[in-house]
Amino acid sequence: MSEQQMVQLKMEGPVAILTLNRAKQLNALNRQVLTELKEHLDALQTQKDVRTVLVTGDGRAFAAGADISQMNNLTPNEAQEFAQFGQSVFSQLEALPQPTIALVQGYALGGGMELAMACDVRIAAQGAKFGQPEVTLGILPGFGGSQRLPRIVGQGRALHIMLSGEMIDAEQALSYGLVTAVVPPEQLLSAGFEYADKLHKLGPVALQMVKRAVYEGAETDIQRGLALEAALFGSCFTTADREEGMTAFLERRKPSFTGR
Ligand code: COA
Repeated sequence: MSEQQMVQLKMEGPVAILTLNRAKQLNALNRQVLTELKEHLDALQTQKDVRTVLVTGDGRAFAAGADISQMNNLTPNEAQEFAQFGQSVFSQLEALPQPTIALVQGYALGGGMELAMACDVRIAAQGAKFGQPEVTLGILPGFGGSQRLPRIVGQGRALHIMLSGEMIDAEQALSYGLVTAVVPPEQLLSAGFEYADKLHKLGPVALQMVKRAVYEGAETDIQRGLALEAALFGSCFTTADREEGMTAFLERRKPSFTGR
């Protein structure tokens, strides 16, 4: 396979769709996949006309994890560097200004589950399977799973998933709060577009502020997190979107946000 084909970027109006395109290997994340993902993220993060990013996988998996055949011969230093590279790409995804939605069908295992967790929202197709099976390979999650999973589902459930290495199904993922909806497989993409459409009616600046408050706040103690929230709240009052949102409410009409 030639370069630039393992991750496809397609635009549908204001929606960018990133699709892992290595179906034969169940979209296993090798260095090339991560590199292409990073290149697409580099481009997307400055594109203001892109309002939402959907992340999907082609074939019968979202992604079945980091590429085990590529990892097999790594030295300890190379393995650490590989983990740091994967982490940096997923952190870049998390830090995108646009909301991101993972659309998970089939397997989301190891790095695949970590990729989904680096998105803001996750929607699963019925039949999807989630898991962090790294312990079955004698390793632990390396692309952020040990840090993001407890933040999303709580420490007890995260430890259960990572210590057992067992898969959970879409309904259990829903009950854990790992995904926000489970839909029939044929409706997965349309569910992503419907979610994106709802977000497009809102002000993009406010959505960015929510992301920053949650992700940056999670890195600090509550007092600093509250200070950050107050600062972001104040900066909303410099925006035309804040003025339009409140004026529209008071005038009993729908707001028309401009993203300024
Ligand atoms: N790394 C590298 N290749 C992988 C992979 C991974 N994480 N996951 C799947 N593949 C490859 C398989 O080697 C196989 O390739 P081949 O056809 O060239 O032999 C192909 O994808 C299909 O996988 P296969 O195992 O035959 O499909 P299956 O339906 O029998 O099983 C899984 C599906 C997901 C249960 C199984 O592939 C699996 O356990 N994968 C590894 C999951 C994992 O441990 N991930 C964490 C990695 S840190």
